[in-house]
Amino acid sequence: MKIFADKKVLITGGCGFIGSNLARKLVSLGSQVTIVDSLIPSYGGNLHNIQDIRDQVWLNISDVRESHAMSYLIQDQDYLFNLAGQTSHMDSMADPYTDLDINAKAQLSILEAARQCNPAVRIVFASTRQMYGKPQYLPVDERHPIVPVDVNGINKLAGEGYHLLYNNVYGIKSACLRLTNTYGPGMRVKDARQTFLGVWIKQILSGQSIQVFGDGKQLRDFNYVDDVVDAILLAASKDGAEGEVINLGASEVIGLADLAQKMIEIYGSGQWDLVPFPAERKSIDIGDYYGDWKKANSILGWSPKVGLSEGLKRSIDYYKRDGAYYW
Ligand SMILES: NC(=O)c1ccc[n+]([C@@H]2O[C@H](COP(=O)([O-])OP(=O)(O)OC[C@H]3O[C@@H](n4cnc5c(N)ncnc54)[C@H](O)[C@@H]3O)[C@@H](O)[C@H]2O)c1
Repeated sequence: MKIFADKKVLITGGCGFIGSNLARKLVSLGSQVTIVDSLIPSYGGNLHNIQDIRDQVWLNISDVRESHAMSYLIQDQDYLFNLAGQTSHMDSMADPYTDLDINAKAQLSILEAARQCNPAVRIVFASTRQMYGKPQYLPVDERHPIVPVDVNGINKLAGEGYHLLYNNVYGIKSACLRLTNTYGPGMRVKDARQTFLGVWIKQILSGQSIQVFGDGKQLRDFNYVDDVVDAILLAASKDGAEGEVINLGASEVIGLADLAQKMIEIYGSGQWDLVPFPAERKSIDIGDYYGDWKKANSILGWSPKVGLSEGLKRSIDYYKRDGAYYW
């Protein structure tokens, strides 16, 4: 990863969960890191996520929907890690236009800024497995039909499509990673806007029962954030990644009730209960999902390194110590 030393990198959404972990890694690799983040309170941005690197990054509190700001910020960057996004599936249904503006329209204007001001920039876009919808087969590979079950999945698909288009037509090197459930220090835990796993950690640490929706048998795969950061850096550096959509995924697949039980065992106490699926969640639930990440392995040489038990332990330990900044 020496290629990132002294390079200028822009991270959109860099105060958020994955963006801040990426920023920390790039600082350690010697990059000159600029973060742009709007810090909209209902999203995952949190200044505590970057407090340890606060004096080693440039922080620009602005919104990726501001095309003039983005043109200015992008002009002399070597890399753009494009992670800013509205991540809540429920919010995308309640307020579809904001999701459209951030996850689709702003992505187009970021790419226009790159085309006009810096076509040599290399981009990695944080896409999502959400766009596959309810799996028609498992594990889900990149050839699986795209049938999003919510507005967020459609808008992220548009964002991804713009990146591929600008790669193919204008030669702006862009790779799209379809992330699955990512967890670790820095994730939003005050509500389920980012991930249910965050709320579960808060419930355990607050002595509340973990609420598992449905029958608790839904299967999921999880990536620890350090593994996702590695994949993002590989996608920016490997020849052959540009113009590709690449799934991430995990070696372990687990049912949600088993996951709740595992978290309680790691923490040392607690309980979980099955509760009926709230109707508005059930209608956009994707059922069982786990991804096929062979392409990530072959193109990027990536495989996840941090097992679920270890990753959960690190996450719980982090919120035991720093939870007050996130509640
Ligand atoms: N965490 C996951 O499990 C997961 C799964 C699939 C895809 N992703 C994608 O990865 C990316 C990062 O997700 P995350 O989990 O770190 O979420 P996050 O909410 O912690 O980070 C997103 C960041 O973007 C910022 N942001 C949102 N709208 C903005 C705007 N208009 N202008 C500037 N900044 C804005 C937020 O303040 C936040 O800091 C997102 O694009 C998300 O869709 C995440």
